[in-house]
Amino acid sequence: MENSDNKESGNKELEMVCVVAMARNRVIGDGTGLIWHLPGDLKRVKALTMGCPLIMGRRTWDSIGRALPGRLSIVLTRNTRWSAPDAVPVASMEAAISAGADWLQAQGQGERRIILFGGGEIYAAGLDYCKVIEATIIDAEPESGVRFPKFDENEWQDSCLESMASGEDYPAFHYHRLVRKTPLADLIPKS
Ligand SMILES: NC(=O)c1ccc[n+]([C@@H]2O[C@H](COP(=O)([O-])OP(=O)(O)OC[C@H]3O[C@@H](n4cnc5c(N)ncnc54)[C@H](OP(=O)(O)O)[C@@H]3O)[C@@H](O)[C@H]2O)c1
Repeated sequence: MENSDNKESGNKELEMVCVVAMARNRVIGDGTGLIWHLPGDLKRVKALTMGCPLIMGRRTWDSIGRALPGRLSIVLTRNTRWSAPDAVPVASMEAAISAGADWLQAQGQGERRIILFGGGEIYAAGLDYCKVIEATIIDAEPESGVRFPKFDENEWQDSCLESMASGEDYPAFHYHRLVRKTPLADLIPKS
């Protein structure tokens, strides 16, 4: 499995990984859901995120409508009365990271990745914490929609892992891994 290195090496540092599918112009969805259904992409997201806590916005939670099995759904909301079965509501990115770290420790599986799962507001709030972006880049430029935040491409080492041809109902798309060139501070500072 392509993302197992961190688990097997025994590296104890927590790492935040952003997982996103975006068009060439950074559009990620129409506000209530995804715009494309790409063959194999859900399977890829499952493989990248299994066993990890997912940090998502309340609107993305609503668009999925349920917790994804084998992962913890941490949902950012400013509504202190919000709750949903199998979701952990939090009021800030820092609280989300802390909840993810606690859950990983309780699992005791050696997994150290926390996933930044979207949508647009949550990518904007959490991208500064991410070391890696696992991006599906779609050859499309929708005129409107929710966007991934602008980021400085010079700060990331971008590798295209695989390209997929277009089909009848979907454009061509490409799996990219972007690794931050400048090291980040620990997600949770050592005491
Ligand atoms: N293509 C992809 O990879 C991908 C991935 C995920 C989502 N999406 C798409 O993205 C779209 C949704 O994105 P979005 O930007 O509209 O919404 P979002 O980021 O999913 O959620 C926004 C909500 O999160 C809460 N929130 C945001 N910042 C917060 C903070 N600092 N503290 C506490 N709570 C905070 C608020 O919830 P309350 O209103 O409850 O206070 C806010 O309304 C959908 O179309 C979805 O399908 C695409």
